Amino acid sequence: MKKLTGPFTQILPLTGLPLKGPIKDEKLQIIQNGWVLTNNDRIITIGTFERLHKDHPSAQVTKIEGKHVLLPGFIDSHTHICFAGSRAKDYAMRLEGKSYLDISKAGGGIWDSVTQTRATDEETLTELLVQRVERHLAEGVTTIEVKSGYGLSVAEELKQLRAIKAASYKTKATLVPTCLAAHMKPKDFDGDDAEYLEHVIYELLPIVKKENLANRVDIFIEQSAFRADTALNFLNKVKHLGFDITVHADQFSTGGSAVSVEAGAVSADHLEASKDKEIKLLANSNTVAVVLPGASIGLGMPYAPARKLLNAGACLAIASDWNPGSAPMGDLLMQASVLAAAEKLSTAEVFAGLTFRAAQALRLTNRGTLTTGAPADFQAYPCSDYREILYQQGKLRPLINLI
Ligand code: NIG
Ligand code: FE
Repeated sequence: MKKLTGPFTQILPLTGLPLKGPIKDEKLQIIQNGWVLTNNDRIITIGTFERLHKDHPSAQVTKIEGKHVLLPGFIDSHTHICFAGSRAKDYAMRLEGKSYLDISKAGGGIWDSVTQTRATDEETLTELLVQRVERHLAEGVTTIEVKSGYGLSVAEELKQLRAIKAASYKTKATLVPTCLAAHMKPKDFDGDDAEYLEHVIYELLPIVKKENLANRVDIFIEQSAFRADTALNFLNKVKHLGFDITVHADQFSTGGSAVSVEAGAVSADHLEASKDKEIKLLANSNTVAVVLPGASIGLGMPYAPARKLLNAGACLAIASDWNPGSAPMGDLLMQASVLAAAEKLSTAEVFAGLTFRAAQALRLTNRGTLTTGAPADFQAYPCSDYREILYQQGKLRPLINLI
């Protein structure tokens, strides 16, 4: 059914902007007092009420009261929100200055979330995930990548991925699942890192493929997780099986971004430790650089060099990394606003990083801009100037479900 919705004080379609490199706000196309014409949840066009109503007199008209700025829904291309339990104890230990090793010895870290998630049944896990998804949706995030990685055995990874699939039927948000069985070698696996990764390739991924549970695979490359050479071998095989690949790269030490580029990963995420060499490598590749300010905030660590990445010509997306350990807050807009202030990112660069550039990280075409044929995936902020959105640092909450 055709619907005509408006007026919006400003509409930012985010079309005609480059996929890579810096963007000045003056490049933003802004439509004043525009209306949106949709048909069966797809955008037909944006224009004035007079013209659209004249050309489509049968369209159902919905009037939006008050001043609003319309944007595409945000895309969070990196989350770990399929988990059970809390890691508040880890956080308190970090506040007391305890090291990663101290926390791990005290029973904290990723393995603690694995234990708590394994002890939770699929239905409960689905409900916990749906609650987090609904919170994200209310904050304007309409497309959400969700990783497994707190199962770390064939049965438990499948449980997580099935919970993500089940949750996707219970929400209006679009969920994009990723298999992160290579989060760390599980403590109860009898074998070395390479043997565990072979186990993932031969025992888990064929079932993931057969049940269509995910078409993306992630690995954590770090001294505490998997070495770069072992990971490259894994990623080449995973790619051969037909999966898109993405990497947790350069979080505490470098090495992951070079593997990402060499293996042709769709994205390299984290990058807090990336230096000029890694920045140049990413900028000259087709791999999207995904920065995760929520992890820097949660760990009390420096941000990834977002400004330098853009200046070098990278495609920069911003994601929340929402997880129970390093990024428990999960407020994407707040995190992006704070990152922008620290790194001097323009509003246009932040909006690009939360929309069409994030879509590129997930290889989603037709998402992240308001254009003919794209889904009617909008959010409207209660203000009359788009600059209010980052200025309010996440405190302005959008209207969603407009159509
Ligand atoms: O992206 N870096 C590795 N994995 C997560 C943390 C997960 C956890 O601590 O539970 C991250 O920050
Ligand atoms: Fe992560």
